[in-house]
Parts: sequence; C-alpha cells; structure tokens
Amino acid sequence: MNDAPIGIFDSGVGGLTVARAISAQLPRESMLYIGDTAHSPYGPKPIADVRRYALEVLDTLVAEGVKMLVIACNTASSAMLRDARERYDVPVVEVIGPAVRTAMSTTRNGRIGVIGTEGTIGSRAYQDMLEVNERLEVFARACPRFVEFVEAGVTDSAEVLAVAEEYLAPLRHADVDTLVLGCTHYPFLEGAISYVMGPEVSLVSSDTETAKDVYRQLVSRDLLAGRDAAPRHVYEATGDSADDFLRLAHRLMGREVTDVRLVQTGAIHVLKGFE
Ligand code: DGL
Repeated sequence: MNDAPIGIFDSGVGGLTVARAISAQLPRESMLYIGDTAHSPYGPKPIADVRRYALEVLDTLVAEGVKMLVIACNTASSAMLRDARERYDVPVVEVIGPAVRTAMSTTRNGRIGVIGTEGTIGSRAYQDMLEVNERLEVFARACPRFVEFVEAGVTDSAEVLAVAEEYLAPLRHADVDTLVLGCTHYPFLEGAISYVMGPEVSLVSSDTETAKDVYRQLVSRDLLAGRDAAPRHVYEATGDSADDFLRLAHRLMGREVTDVRLVQTGAIHVLKGFE
C-alpha cells in the first residue's frame, strides 16, 4: 500500500505546480496525475457541474489504487470540500485548508485578500473558512483573465500588469497584508502580483502549502513510500489530445512531463497504471 501512488487531480495542467511541489519534498513517492482537460477550464462553470466532473476523476483515481487523493484544483476543492472526505477511505488533501491556515498565521493586521477563479470566489469556500476567525477581514476578488495569460505563456507583458492593477486595486486599497493565490495558475504570476501589491504584502501560494500538508499526512498515517521505492510519475488527461496537454505542460513546467496517456473517466475506465 505504501508504494501505491499519490493520486493528484486538477482541471488541466495547472495542478502540475502542486505535483512539482510534492515531488520536490517527497522524491520517493509515485504519483498518478489526472488533468480533466475534457472539461477544463472549471473556473467559469456552474459549481454543480464542477462537482460532478471532479467526483468522476476522483473515483477513477481511487479505482487505480492510489493511497491518497490530492485535489490540486482550487475550483474543484471549493465545489466539494466536504463530500470527498466522506466518500473515500483514502485520505483526501485539498488546497484550501492549507492555504487558509498559512494565511491566518501570516497576517499581522488581520486583513487578508483572496484571489481565484469565478467559481472559487463565488463559492465563498476561502472566505467562510477564514471568517471562522472573527478577528479577520477578508477581501476576495475573481481574476478570470489570469488563467488565460498563464496558459498563453504571457506573465510579464504590459497588458498583464495593467490587468493585475485593475483586479488588485480594491485589495490594495483595503490594505491587506496577506494575499492568498487561490488558483493553480497564479504561482506563475507571482512576479506581477507582488509588483502590484508591493513587497510588504505576503503572498500565500496553495501549491507549496498543499505539498506540506501531503507530507504531514503521509508521515502521521505511516504511509510514506518505502526506502527502496522506485518512484513512477504517470500523467493522464481526459481530453482528446495528449499533445495539447504536453504543449501546455512544457510551456508551464519545462520538460519534466514526457508522456501523457488519454483516459476516460466516469462509467468506462480503460487504463490501469499501477497494477
Ligand atoms: N485549476 C483551476 C483552479 O485552481 C484553474 C483553471 C480552471 O479554471 O480550470 O481553480
């Protein structure tokens, strides 16, 4: 069981930021990554649809025998925060809780900003979790065009900065001292976001915070891969073109993803990766 892979799921390639952070901290772990490119992007979709797509992918990962589920997508995590833990026997790690905990311990003035897709911000998942602490004031803003920029490989143009200025102005005026980057793609825009917010605002990124949570859970549940484990990283996509996934993965992450298999989630699942 311990040498079974960690199952990582995202709407597409953005969750590779989380996979990369996990593999940096846990190099002996095998990973099975599914990007639901057939339904990507999740951000603008109704939350009920996102929930249905996400459950299909998670069911698929569990059928593959993963030892843990990581919901790397913020929109999917927002849509099914409680459901996934009730549905599966394996531990489920999502991206919102870890980022919220770090933001809570980072803020000095109690004013926290959150940015994400329309789905994530509209669900109020981050806001509700942060506002459990009555001392905190939360300022949330959807930044839908950020995903488009990152997927186009544009992170440093004048247009990116102009759009960032527009999206982030209310958060700057609200005097937040901590900003949660609540989307898989936003780590690629940290330069622009930090430039606009100013160096005194701390940025909390869900990829590294989630990787720490994965580490913590594997250790505390005695699920770490064995010392002699030979790690395998397998990437699957649900869309009809592996080339699109690879092209975007290479643009975002460099060459570490070399091969992508196409799978179907839901009723029919054809491939078994770790038999
Ligand atoms: N992965 C999504 C998230 O973190 C961003 C991309 C999408 O809209 O599907 O919210």
